[in-house]
Amino acid sequence: MSGHIPTLADLGDVAGKRVLVRTDFNVPLEDGRITDDFRIRAALPTIEWLTQRGAQVVCASHLGRPKGQPNPKYSMEPVRARLAELAPGVELLENLRYHAGEEGNDPAFVAQLVEGVDAYVDDAFGAAHRAHASIVGPPKTLPSAMGLLLQREVEVLLGLRNDPKRPFVAVLGGAKISDKLGVVEALLNVVDSLVIGGAMCFTFLAAQGHSIGDSLWEPEQVDTCRRLLASGKTIHLPEDLVGVDAAGSFATFGRNLPDGAKGFDIGPGTAAAFSDVVMDARTVFWNGPMGMFEDPRFEAGTRTVAQAMADTKAFTVVGGGDSAAALAQFGLADEVDHVSTGGGASLELLELGDLPGLEALRGAPNA
Ligand code: 3PG
Repeated sequence: MSGHIPTLADLGDVAGKRVLVRTDFNVPLEDGRITDDFRIRAALPTIEWLTQRGAQVVCASHLGRPKGQPNPKYSMEPVRARLAELAPGVELLENLRYHAGEEGNDPAFVAQLVEGVDAYVDDAFGAAHRAHASIVGPPKTLPSAMGLLLQREVEVLLGLRNDPKRPFVAVLGGAKISDKLGVVEALLNVVDSLVIGGAMCFTFLAAQGHSIGDSLWEPEQVDTCRRLLASGKTIHLPEDLVGVDAAGSFATFGRNLPDGAKGFDIGPGTAAAFSDVVMDARTVFWNGPMGMFEDPRFEAGTRTVAQAMADTKAFTVVGGGDSAAALAQFGLADEVDHVSTGGGASLELLELGDLPGLEALRGAPNA
């Protein structure tokens, strides 16, 4: 990536100006209540920076995937109420994705968004990988800047990609290798070792010729896993596993699962070995749980790795989504150096080194 990305200071005097701030307030909701307001709190430094300098802030965000139609299930009302408590007097537009023009990047919708607005700030790191109207449209005409959250995310994640302290270890989990293939390939070029847990480990174990019973796997990715395993990099895979046997009873296994068995977590030996790798590292990036941690029977592997993330002296970065939720569940969210607000965005930035939202800011009239 090249070119200057304007920061808040590049906006000049914002006093009396109406500033549109694209935030990622796509927060988890249960029965209309916010279960985790992390993304709202994460935008406060930027909002306060602007309001303290006399700007009139209008926030805009998507929430869920209403697919271009108004839908009360995805109303911003709960977010508006929380924002009013945290940042009184700040406006919040209704869900951007109520308009088909948002995801379609329709110039007419961009025109609607920028009407009466003097400047644009992008602080929506979690959505910066989407070339949607509210992300890439306003910087075409308005003086623009990245907010403090977006700036920090870019510094941390590009720092991992470009200049990590070594040993640099990436711990990857989650269900599918196919979702993370690009980032696995990109990380293999920069990390000293890769630690693989979660259901994605079964495709790697199958590629090594192990029997995986009825565990979740992706047969079409076996060749890819073989190629990754032959890359010469150190890839740590589970030595033992926890799950259920063919009768559905809780069971522990070695690397080979009997017919009908299903693996749902890494085993205790593996969790201890993965912890040691994390403890010995100087930089760790973690994305994806080690098992089905929502079920208390299968949370131990993820908990052990989360605890190692908290205990290690390494610089620790956690990709958003499920691994951030796991850290929060274990009360360890404040114990790591950086929890990214982006799931897909953090992986794409690590993989490609750039995002559509950043590219758009580089082209802004004040950049
Ligand atoms: C996220 O939750 O990862 C971001 O808000 C992006 O949401 P999306 O995947 O629906 O675009």
